[in-house]
Amino acid sequence: VSEKPLAGKKVLVTAGPTQEEIDPVRFISNHSSGKMGYAIAKVAKMLGASVCLISGPTCLSVPYFIDEVVFVKSAGEMYREVLDRAEQYDILIMCAAVADYTPAQRSGSKIKKIEDKLVLELVKTPDILATLGQVKKENQVVVGFAAETEHVVENAIEKLIKKNVDIIVANDVSEAMGKDTNHVYVISKNKAVVEVEGTKEEVAKELLLRICENFC
Ligand code: PMT
Repeated sequence: VSEKPLAGKKVLVTAGPTQEEIDPVRFISNHSSGKMGYAIAKVAKMLGASVCLISGPTCLSVPYFIDEVVFVKSAGEMYREVLDRAEQYDILIMCAAVADYTPAQRSGSKIKKIEDKLVLELVKTPDILATLGQVKKENQVVVGFAAETEHVVENAIEKLIKKNVDIIVANDVSEAMGKDTNHVYVISKNKAVVEVEGTKEEVAKELLLRICENFC
């Protein structure tokens, strides 16, 4: 087996949370640390791929050997940066915890504390993974993640079908977010489920080797 099974392949990975601004001082976000996505980018490079990492705000440092790194804040920005590049990549792995909703309007000035209640109107963000599922070319592999709190595998299979992806990686947020380890179910289109547990780099390697085996 080659030590560089991804040689000649181009891999695009998203990582981390997005931040949806409410006003100049406040935003909506989530607990994603970026560790899982950064591990995938790092291991993909070690396995020989050319790698682009599109990252939401994290505290992590990017391995110097990643070919292209793009920092974004919001779901809208991440959508644009991914879609601008998607066509050039063989394998697209959407590991970011993208906000599902964003404020309908961003206030240009700090919202004052006046009323007892504040109601925010939120609108849906564009779904990056579902869009890739619609526009992907025959030779492209699209991989999504599913962050679940219950019925982990069942809910992930629903996302796999709905978003038309080749592989979905299901994980329980309590075992995944912010942690150095993960426990995932790698689910293929034929609904074969493979359980993988270990450090995020070990999980990344298993996932990438499985993608190679099936699609490269
Ligand atoms: O960053 P860590 O702390 O290491 O944690 C890792 C992780 C838990 C964030 C990661 O393993 C993970 O599960 N990422 C996906 C998080 C998520 O948004 O899951 P979801 O089930 O809500 O979304 C399903 C898929 O749609 C994901 O691939 C997501 O990137 C994508 N999505 C979601 C919304 C949106 N507007 N656009 C998208 O592309």
